[in-house]
Amino acid sequence: MEAIEALNSRRGVLAFKPAPVEPDKIELVLQAAANAASPANLQPWAFVVVTEPELARKMAGYLVRTQADCVFRALLGMPDDVTERQMRVYAHFENAPCFIVLCLQPKVDFALPSHREALHNWYLVSLGAALANLMAAAAALGLGTRLFGAFGLEQEGQELKDLLGIPADVTAVAATPLGYYDEDSADTPPIQNPADLAAFRRGVPDTLPGLLRGRLPLDAVVHKNGW
Ligand SMILES: Cc1cc2nc3c(=O)[nH]c(=O)nc-3n(C[C@H](O)[C@H](O)[C@H](O)COP(=O)(O)O)c2cc1C
Repeated sequence: MEAIEALNSRRGVLAFKPAPVEPDKIELVLQAAANAASPANLQPWAFVVVTEPELARKMAGYLVRTQADCVFRALLGMPDDVTERQMRVYAHFENAPCFIVLCLQPKVDFALPSHREALHNWYLVSLGAALANLMAAAAALGLGTRLFGAFGLEQEGQELKDLLGIPADVTAVAATPLGYYDEDSADTPPIQNPADLAAFRRGVPDTLPGLLRGRLPLDAVVHKNGW
């Protein structure tokens, strides 16, 4: 698949087939992630790859639970019936055969105290670049991914860190399933009406579809030769 097609066709996948992902394909997506740019080549990332079936099932259960509790209930303020409805799309999520957890691991500490915040932001930008590479490579290989960050809203993901033995000085920033999928993830999303996005109100279910659907038109987010 062409790079542009892989980037533009990628959509978050939630319904996976249980078939395991071939180890060489997992390696290819990790290689693409680790080839991302980072400030001064500091490569502030580490990846935990989960393929052991029982552990993968635990990961899936944990991500689904924190999705309901931390995103729909706490972050978006949705009532239980709306949360339950929204969670139906995660019904086949437990089949996901593989998970990759993206961690922030600063390898060296040389920054002046006044530079620490900027460096931390740069690190997060690099992690985003690594994740974008990973998801595009997966799409090119016919594999689905879906970025999950919700667990970070609950004790900064300590339960996940405990499950996977992630050291205390390493931050688990995001996780994605990786696998073959059932759903048609390549549907072009509709152009989002900027008014629908702006209308979203926490705890108001009617405004949720406008938040979750489509993409803003490019001319709403791109400013040419000045804002
Ligand atoms: C930083 C970040 C955190 C996210 N966290 C979650 C999450 O916890 N659960 C989830 O289902 N999707 C999560 N997503 C996925 C977005 O909801 C999804 O990318 C967005 O709705 C656009 O859909 P698409 O990926 O299918 O294009 C996250 C995305 C980003 C960039």
